[in-house]
Amino acid sequence: MNQDIPLGLSFDDVLLQPGLSEILPGEAEVSTSLTSKIPLNIPIISSAMDTVTEAELAIALAREGGLGVIHRNARIDEQAEHVSKVKRSENAVIYDPLTVQADLPMHELQEVMSRHGVSGFPVVDQEGRLEGMVTSRDLWNVSDERTTVAEIMTPRDQLITSESDTDLDDALRILAKGRIEKLPLIDTEGKLTGLITRQDIEKRHMYGNACKDPQGRLRVGGAIGVGPDWKDRAQALVQAGTDGLFIDAATGHTSRVIDLIQQLKSEHGDAVAVVAGNVVTEQGAKDLVSAGTDAVKIGVGPGSICTTRVISGVGMPQFSAVRHVTDHCRENGVVSIADGGIRYSGDMVKALAAGADCVMLGSLLAGTKESPGAMVNWQGRTFKEYRGMGSLKAMRKGSGDRYGQNASGKLVAEGVEARVPYKGPLTEMVFQLLGGLRSGMGYVGAHSLEQLRAKAKFVRITPGGLRESHPHDIVITEEPVNYQSP
Ligand code: XMP
Repeated sequence: MNQDIPLGLSFDDVLLQPGLSEILPGEAEVSTSLTSKIPLNIPIISSAMDTVTEAELAIALAREGGLGVIHRNARIDEQAEHVSKVKRSENAVIYDPLTVQADLPMHELQEVMSRHGVSGFPVVDQEGRLEGMVTSRDLWNVSDERTTVAEIMTPRDQLITSESDTDLDDALRILAKGRIEKLPLIDTEGKLTGLITRQDIEKRHMYGNACKDPQGRLRVGGAIGVGPDWKDRAQALVQAGTDGLFIDAATGHTSRVIDLIQQLKSEHGDAVAVVAGNVVTEQGAKDLVSAGTDAVKIGVGPGSICTTRVISGVGMPQFSAVRHVTDHCRENGVVSIADGGIRYSGDMVKALAAGADCVMLGSLLAGTKESPGAMVNWQGRTFKEYRGMGSLKAMRKGSGDRYGQNASGKLVAEGVEARVPYKGPLTEMVFQLLGGLRSGMGYVGAHSLEQLRAKAKFVRITPGGLRESHPHDIVITEEPVNYQSP
């Protein structure tokens, strides 16, 4: 009790000072990385929350250049399926396409199509030899449920196929000439080795900034907890193609998380990035870094839906947390992610300038069209549901171990259930966030995020300064999309 109590600052307590600038916001370069092997084209990662990130949002965010982390409040196979959906979504060449067998009845084919969101499948025999193709179009005039794939597919001898090593330019020519959508690739024995689709080739041109792996697949992460299923979950996610395993714990400064980092690194470290958290102190960063993590998540209690700080009395204002953690990470080549508490694009600029390599967003993405939260209408306006993973409902569904609690017993909530205004497609939200970031970089005179960190000079402000920062002494008649009154 004799020690001085240090001051903790939040984003609202500081502002960046403008500096001599020679750049226009549009010239600012916002790329970063998750590890030395995983570049990100924008510094945005989505929260592993069941009202934020499933396949649809992860696909939309990766197309913009960021990374989605699929939540773990689901069965292992469901979570792995979301990862796999992202990986399959725009493969230039799908090396392991989903296939069906010729004796599959129509109703099962329909079920497989809707479960995987795929409209056509190669049909193969037991040995993997191509027998035909079946697409949703083949179902148009079929009413008898017992009809099998064999009766409606386009058989092998009427199909256009190509060799296993066909490159994309040749594939495009073959697709155009044959006026077909899908080109199966086969080896000399007639076995299916891949599939190229016109849609995927076109998407490659549409999303030039997308965050992709070396095989041209969108990148994605998957959350795992410290509970007993971690091993099977990690295995399933890696098998489904995840690029990162994100250890999801309210506090990561525990011996369980440290052990888990070591186990994951030794079992999967060559294949995927291991990301751990959350910590808010330099010692926390040191312990996770020496356990071997590739990236560290920062934040205890800053999130919009969090009640951890008021329930437990523990936490750290997020700006200070970022300052405590990032230097040690950077000195050791470890990435840091500011997780939670970002309400405006300006908060993101402050977090990145204070040392974080990326930010993790929950509430700002929960209102987008692609988030899994349900739509709700309230007083004539549209919202989406958003809830903390420590809220009672989320913990009852399984996320209790994030807070060291068992869902079968009585629970102590550390989060709330809420709603956020509907914001439309994620691309619009990301456009606004990057616009704010680039503007901030322009004011500071920073071409890159590295320069932003190097040039950042903060000033502490008073409640008067904060009041002055927001619109004041007027009545707002229309709020722009990137601003909502606190
Ligand atoms: P934002 O502010 O972006 O925060 O909505 C999202 C982050 O909050 C964390 N999280 C929680 N923290 N109780 C907490 O104390 C909860 O119920 C809860 N749910 C999520 C998580 O780090 C997320 O990325």
